[in-house]
Amino acid sequence: MTALVGLDVGTTGVKALAVSPEGDVLARAESTYGFETPRPGWAEQDPESWWRGTEEALAALGVGGVAGIGLSGQMHGLVLLDGDERVLRPAILWNDQRTAAECEEVEDLLGGRPRLVEATGNRALPGFTAPKLLWVRRHEPETYARVAHVLLPKDYVRLRLTGERAIDAADASGTLLFDVGARRWSEEVLAALELPAEWLPPALESPEVSGRTAGGVPVAAGAGDQAAGALGVGVDRPGPLSVVLGTSGVVFAALPGYAADPEGRVHVFCHAVPDGWHAMGVMLSAAGSLQWLRDTIAPGEPFGALVGEGERWDPGAEGLVFLPYLAGERTPHVDPDARGAFVGLSLRHDRGALVRAVLEGVAYALRDSLELLRELGVEPASARVSGGGARSDLWLRIVASVLDLPLERTAAEEGAAYGAALLGGVAAGVFADVHEAVAATVRVTGTVEPEPAWRETYEAGYARFRELYPSLHTQEAT
Ligand code: XUL
Repeated sequence: MTALVGLDVGTTGVKALAVSPEGDVLARAESTYGFETPRPGWAEQDPESWWRGTEEALAALGVGGVAGIGLSGQMHGLVLLDGDERVLRPAILWNDQRTAAECEEVEDLLGGRPRLVEATGNRALPGFTAPKLLWVRRHEPETYARVAHVLLPKDYVRLRLTGERAIDAADASGTLLFDVGARRWSEEVLAALELPAEWLPPALESPEVSGRTAGGVPVAAGAGDQAAGALGVGVDRPGPLSVVLGTSGVVFAALPGYAADPEGRVHVFCHAVPDGWHAMGVMLSAAGSLQWLRDTIAPGEPFGALVGEGERWDPGAEGLVFLPYLAGERTPHVDPDARGAFVGLSLRHDRGALVRAVLEGVAYALRDSLELLRELGVEPASARVSGGGARSDLWLRIVASVLDLPLERTAAEEGAAYGAALLGGVAAGVFADVHEAVAATVRVTGTVEPEPAWRETYEAGYARFRELYPSLHTQEAT
């Protein structure tokens, strides 16, 4: 039997998935870990925990006949190694918000935001890799002086698995050091930021072989979790969107060609398909908001039971609105200091109402990203969903109604690990290319339609949601 293995080095754990060439999931395993928040707004993780998690998940998977492995993982994290490939400090993660000053510095050094967008396809955002490098240069000069290699999280796992340093164009896109249009490291940005090109690994296309395990199994370059996840739900070319309800929340569109938003309001990155690009909006706390609510008011309560309490409330939860900015926000506000809120509480509201408002607030925030993509000419007719939150029927009905789009579920819910497995299959020669891999494996298993009866309430709710961030923000500033 042939197995294709996908690894997703995530924020809360490593997922390993074994998939057959026909697309059936043969085995799944997960090893979890936490992350540190040594100061408010910071998020760090020990790269060793990713490797331990990978070893555990691969051992627990227990399949033979592995033809190829693909890697995916949380994007943007800064991993610093010395000349002996030893980790110099904990990795600074995608949801870390410490670099507001360095984001301004990056844009200034390039001669302004428009020039940076021309060079990289993107504006500077806290959480992207380049501003973190500048932060370490300023705040930890002794560590900075010892840097010899810069990697992203899944690429550190690759180093341990194969001994090779490499990255793929999709994940490299989120470093802000990459010329996304030309699919190579940007000499202009590296020169402007005075960063040595030798620190960076070779940038491959996602299905290329990046190295081999000790046992000789080819390991595909892979992709950041959003691009791999899109493949995993069958979004390899323009058509349905990919909507992810993971710790973060994403609305992702494959593009017909490279086209950056001049203001950089959405991310424009290389897709995990050679010659493919995509645009996406990213909110920082999607299923992460529900997890926070559960941990805060109902520790240990199963998510299903909690969501059941939310289902007892009518749409709109009698005027209660939740702003999901628990970790600041990326799209659309680009505000590391944004904070969450419940607005409109009454004596009638109970735990279920808070849950309902969280599910709806996350859906409204996804709508913000969808509206930006529409402004850039994306005209979706449907979306494919993945991520832990997509297990909830109620949440999908709410998101479908707020986005006014049918949401399709696919057979495997582990989008990123599944997409990584497909890339492993291309690297192994099981499939001719990524499109063939997607066509041979991804199957839609059901559709959740918008609820016509909820439409009016959610249009009004979205309008109210849009008003709240500016008004709360202004009050705080004055
Ligand atoms: C994408 C992003 C997040 C992480 C989550 O730009 O920052 O989706 O990749 O793992």
